[in-house]
Amino acid sequence: TYVVTDNCIKCKYLDCVEVCPVDCFYEGENMLVIHPDECIDCGVCEPECPADAIKPDTEPGLEKWLEINTKYASLWPVVTVKRDALPDAEKFDGESGKFEKYFS
Ligand code: SF4
Ligand code: F3S
Repeated sequence: TYVVTDNCIKCKYLDCVEVCPVDCFYEGENMLVIHPDECIDCGVCEPECPADAIKPDTEPGLEKWLEINTKYASLWPVVTVKRDALPDAEKFDGESGKFEKYFS
């Protein structure tokens, strides 16, 4: 599966939802997650994210993000239509440790 990671938080550009063939993105207040059981590993979302927040879970060190994606995909509503990014997306793009500071 692919997972959404830290840099989505407070950016939420939403370009990813437009390209996913199986509509497996789920939306929280300030980030999205991918449902790991629904993602078909096509990889088309990865290069579409302006924040470079989408990674294959085969990359090392992403266990925490796989857990977060799994947990919240079952709690949050599906999102399939692109809207504007969050208002301060450019300001928060690239900041480190956003999960600890801002996740909601
Ligand atoms: Fe959707 Fe493909 Fe991205 Fe998985 S890898 S979330 S199926 S676009
Ligand atoms: Fe987040 Fe990137 Fe999608 S910032 S909403 S994973 S396009």
